[in-house]
This record gives sequence, structure tokens and C-alpha cells, in this order.
Amino acid sequence: MDYQEILERIYKEVKQESDKGILANYIPALAEIDPNKFAIAIHTVDGKDYSVGDADEKFSIQSIAKLFTLTLAIQKFDEDVWERVGKEPSGTAFNSLVQLEYEMGIPRNPFINAGALVITDMITNGVGKAKKEVIEFMRKISNNRNVSYDFEVADSERNTGFKNVALANLVKSFNNLDNIPADVLSVYYHQSAIQMSCVDLSRAAIFLANKGYSPYCDEEILGPRQTKRVNAIMLTSGMYDAIGDFAYRVGLPGKSGVGGGIVAIIPGELSISVWAPGLNPSGNSTLGLRALELFTTYTEQSVF
Ligand code: DON
Repeated sequence: MDYQEILERIYKEVKQESDKGILANYIPALAEIDPNKFAIAIHTVDGKDYSVGDADEKFSIQSIAKLFTLTLAIQKFDEDVWERVGKEPSGTAFNSLVQLEYEMGIPRNPFINAGALVITDMITNGVGKAKKEVIEFMRKISNNRNVSYDFEVADSERNTGFKNVALANLVKSFNNLDNIPADVLSVYYHQSAIQMSCVDLSRAAIFLANKGYSPYCDEEILGPRQTKRVNAIMLTSGMYDAIGDFAYRVGLPGKSGVGGGIVAIIPGELSISVWAPGLNPSGNSTLGLRALELFTTYTEQSVF
């Protein structure tokens, strides 16, 4: 398969789309990003990279970080993770509060904000320690020491993240946080503000296409059973209330972020990441979705 040619074809096609979506203006620092940025990067299980566009430029990975904090929590607690967070799609927006009260503070899944806050709580045993562990993990699995926190973005979200404050407090009121909400939120805003490129991201996620093994750090990040589970949660909950549309159009496990990134997995084959900052109403990258849809169409590859 000539992936490079396919990526270039997609790039040309996507650049002509008129609906680019809208920047995530509820986090002021993200509203300043150039809406014309666009990138795709692929990393194959046999170690090859392909890319087009701004694929080496760092962007804010936002909710894509939830994939990696879930990985850290599963490394530490394995199946016990599911005692505090569910594994069902929510059918609601990523920052919705509605289910949380009548489901007694057990978030539907680890990818909505409430669930990610619980996962972040699980890996937080000291705020500074957790922040260091998360960023070092990202550097290790992307094989890039330059992966970093964007403190301006973390601050920007801290100043405006009122819904997350509400979610963390509601979860805490049901005794589903060990740490105080302010500490969990601090780690959460930082993990969201990790900045890395599409090339970094596709390398970081390759273990999910490779039964848990990362050739980058020559380590089993997760076992094959655990990897299957993370991919299953991505397939059912990775795009929030728009997961049906994503499965229908793209047909891969994937995880989005309001920075405009999406990472998706073809098990046994490759990881692919896209970045285009404009979002649709569900908070997923408009052109990123389109690019992934074209990719699985042109390559005739999907999990279905
Ligand atoms: O908590 C928030 O609202 C952001 N830090 C992350 C949300 C997000 O990326 C949703 N994804 N599409």
C-alpha cells in the first residue's frame, strides 16, 4: 500500500472543504490557533512513518491524553479500574453532568470528562509526582524528550473550567475521588495541555495497534488482553455522543481532543493521527474526521 500517495490525495481533497468547523473557544488559549493547520501522520507496526501537512508541529492533545492516563491506570490497577468507572457509551456531551448524579458518581466511561477525572485521581499520589509521571510516559512512548506541557493552555483552562470543577466536586461528593478536587483538576488540566505533534502521537499510540508492545521503548506497555479492552472503549466511547457517526464513517477505534487532534488504530497494522483545529458541535475535529473517513475508504481498511 502506498500510504504516502494516499495521504497526499487526502490532503488535497480535505483542503478544499468549505466547512472547517469552529475553534474550541471555551478554552481561550485554544481559540488563538491558526484554523488552517492540518496534518496527518501514520506509524506502522513495522516501524515506518508517513505524513503530510503540519505533522511536526506541536498542538494541544486535550482529551486524547485520556487514552494515555487510562493506560497508566490499567498498568497500575488492571481490572479494578472498572469498579470506579463504567465502560458504556454515555450518549451525552463530553462535559455533561446529567448522568453523574443519578448514577451515583460512577461516570459512564473513562473518556468523558467525569470518567477521566476519576482515572486521573487513580494515578495521582502527589500532584507534582503525577504530572511528572504522565509527561515522562508520553516522552517515553513517543520517543521524543521535547514533548511538554503548555502551561499557558493549562492556565487558560484552569481559569474557565467551571464545568470540570462542578464534575470533580460531584464525583467527590459520591466518594469517588481519593484526592481533593483541586489536585485532580490540576493534574487533569496539565495532561490536557500536553503538546506534541501528529508524528509524536502516532508513534505514542502504536502499542495499541501492536497488542500492547511499543517498539519505541522496547516495552510491553499493556498486555494483549488489556490492549483489546482499551481499543474497545475507544470504539464505543472515543467520540462521546458522536461515536456512532465515527464508527459508521471511519470504522476504527479512535480518540479525539478539542485541540483538533484525533488518533485512531488499525489493529495489527498502524496508528494514524490527524490534526485540524476546527471542531463540529460534538467537539471533534471536522476535517480530521473527514480525513480519517477518506483514509479508511481509500485503503479499504477498517476493523469491520
Ligand atoms: O476538559 C476539557 O474540557 C478539555 N480539557 C478536554 C475536552 C476534550 O478534549 C473533548 N474532546 N473532544
